[in-house]
Amino acid sequence: MDIYSEKQQITKAINTLKAEKITLGLVPTMGALHNGHLALVEKALGENDKVFVSIFVNPTQFDNPDDLAKYPRTFENDLELLKTLSADRILIYAPTVDAVYEGKTVSEKFDFDGLELEMEGKFRIGHFDGVGTIVKRLFEIIKPDNAYFGEKDFQQLQIIKKMVEKHHIPVNIVPCSIYRETTGLAMSSRNTRLKPDYKTAAPFIYKTLKTAKKQFGTQSATSVTQWVEKQFANHNLLKLEYFIIADETTLKTVSRKTNNKKYRAFIAVYADDIRLIDNIALN
Ligand code: PAJ
Repeated sequence: MDIYSEKQQITKAINTLKAEKITLGLVPTMGALHNGHLALVEKALGENDKVFVSIFVNPTQFDNPDDLAKYPRTFENDLELLKTLSADRILIYAPTVDAVYEGKTVSEKFDFDGLELEMEGKFRIGHFDGVGTIVKRLFEIIKPDNAYFGEKDFQQLQIIKKMVEKHHIPVNIVPCSIYRETTGLAMSSRNTRLKPDYKTAAPFIYKTLKTAKKQFGTQSATSVTQWVEKQFANHNLLKLEYFIIADETTLKTVSRKTNNKKYRAFIAVYADDIRLIDNIALN
């Protein structure tokens, strides 16, 4: 499995692959890989000749320095996991912060037509400028035909689609469904940091989302939201940051349902100091 860290090296390799008309998939990650990431890589392997997996903990998308410092880094294990999928069709891009940011670790400013002002954008200031900056750079360096993003980070997925459209970037964005533990907990690199009590409590998040989905069939968004807030107010370990029912396209909170629109419920919860997010399609 070839591993690249320098821009010059990787650009040379990409130019060769492009000259050979090899189709390239890209799966951007921050490492600490789990089966959710691997599902994206498998899908990409099914649809491209070669797949780049980028492994880079991007500092500019962290609003909380403690979260950045504690983000799990398991590079050797990540490589072992990827080798189980394919050793010869997967390529790794694992640059240093300096190599990516060339000494200036700051984000570009983006306008995602307001998508960045909702949910994660409200609670994690500057987060999507950081995500936009790194993903745009990855697209410029790797020039993938297809790039794979999980619906686990649904707002991120919509923002990347918007960036590609507004900046005319020639890449096809492929959404991938949420991969869960058998308990229903959405897989996340941060789950490894959950203490046992919190790990046991965390599946309550998806359980509540499923009940909210059922209720949304017959009740208003407001009453479902109030019900969810009450469930967490009564919970002794999990602390709700937000629960929102939003239009899937605009990500704006819904007050009144319309028949031809798609809705999705979004949630962010603190389990101790670990922030977990999840979402569910409502129709
Ligand atoms: P990271 O959290 O490592 O996630 C990498 C990709 O895996 C994202 O597209 C994410 O949505 C997807 N993913 C994570 N957990 C998943 C799950 N349980 N089911 C399905 N997909 C899942 O998201 C990022 O990194 C970063 O913001 C990044 C895009 C790499 C930019 O730095």
